[in-house]
Amino acid sequence: MDTEQKDFEQEALVREAEEAALRAEDSRALYEVKLQYLGKTGKVTALMKRMKDLAQELRPAFGKQVNALREKLEGLFDGLEARVREREMAKKLASESVDVTMPGRRRERGALHPVTIVKNRLIDIFAGMGFEIFEGPEIETDYYNFTALNTPADHPARDMQDTFYVSDNLLLRTQTSAGQIRLMERKKPPIKMLSPGRVFRSDDDATHSPMFHQMEGLVVDRGITLCDLQGMLDEFVKAMFSETSKTRLRPSYFPFTEPSVEVDVSCHVCGGKGCPLCKGTGWIEVLGAGVVNRRVLQNCGVDPDVYSGFAFGMGIERIAMLKYGINNIKLLTENDVRFLAQFKD
Ligand code: DAH
Repeated sequence: MDTEQKDFEQEALVREAEEAALRAEDSRALYEVKLQYLGKTGKVTALMKRMKDLAQELRPAFGKQVNALREKLEGLFDGLEARVREREMAKKLASESVDVTMPGRRRERGALHPVTIVKNRLIDIFAGMGFEIFEGPEIETDYYNFTALNTPADHPARDMQDTFYVSDNLLLRTQTSAGQIRLMERKKPPIKMLSPGRVFRSDDDATHSPMFHQMEGLVVDRGITLCDLQGMLDEFVKAMFSETSKTRLRPSYFPFTEPSVEVDVSCHVCGGKGCPLCKGTGWIEVLGAGVVNRRVLQNCGVDPDVYSGFAFGMGIERIAMLKYGINNIKLLTENDVRFLAQFKD
């Protein structure tokens, strides 16, 4: 092997490596090419192995030459590698680039349901007067929903509410008044309870729905009278409707209160002059209330000669409809966003 031929062979090898390296499209492919030349079984290594076939005196020069070749190829691959990596990075950055001028995706903001807004407001108002929240079960026994509230099985007042029965003894509660009994069985007076919850009745028209919400109130202590009820109601309507709202009590009947009253509030739209909302009367009925019947106290082991109390119950949907001028209760369960978006807490 003469020197000239060796030089020629080596030059060809460099060119061949260069061409193959330039064809490599990414750093992985380039690495594969590098292995073909500089790897353990690569062409340069094979060349080095040929040294043993040479005469002793030729070996140092040959070794030097192959090492120079190796260095040259290493330099070549290093340079190309840097270029390929740069290209890859530029490609990656381009594919990940963000167009900051593009309009953002809009997120719809939710709002509280009007029934929730009114319920929260009621809780705020009564919590401010020292009431504590008690929540009873939605499936009730006949005893808590009716009998203990002085409404035994054959009592005509049972017809006031069309009941969904689950079994002979179990029903979907028709009124949150059931909570009065549950709480009085558990807690001795003084009591100031507020009990919100769902109630169910077989009833369905523009102002009635088979499921709706009530807010029950109960106060029991020594010397509680109807005057305490009226004073508290005046405070309540001022906070709920308007500073100038007034109340009016009309005699009514509920089995669990004696005397019983319907409570009207002066119309917050016309101020009492008469308008479509109050049907020209200036007054709007908002809740039922009364002095707790002695029998109810007795049923709960509370001595009616020592303690007395008042109770009240209202429909939350009804209050929401009055407050916001909603004329059909169905709007409250349809979940139409165009309707719901109008209510801001
Ligand atoms: N529970 C009655 C109803 O659903 C409302 C009611 C009236 C509750 C008078 C009371 C009350 O606590 O004293 O129609």
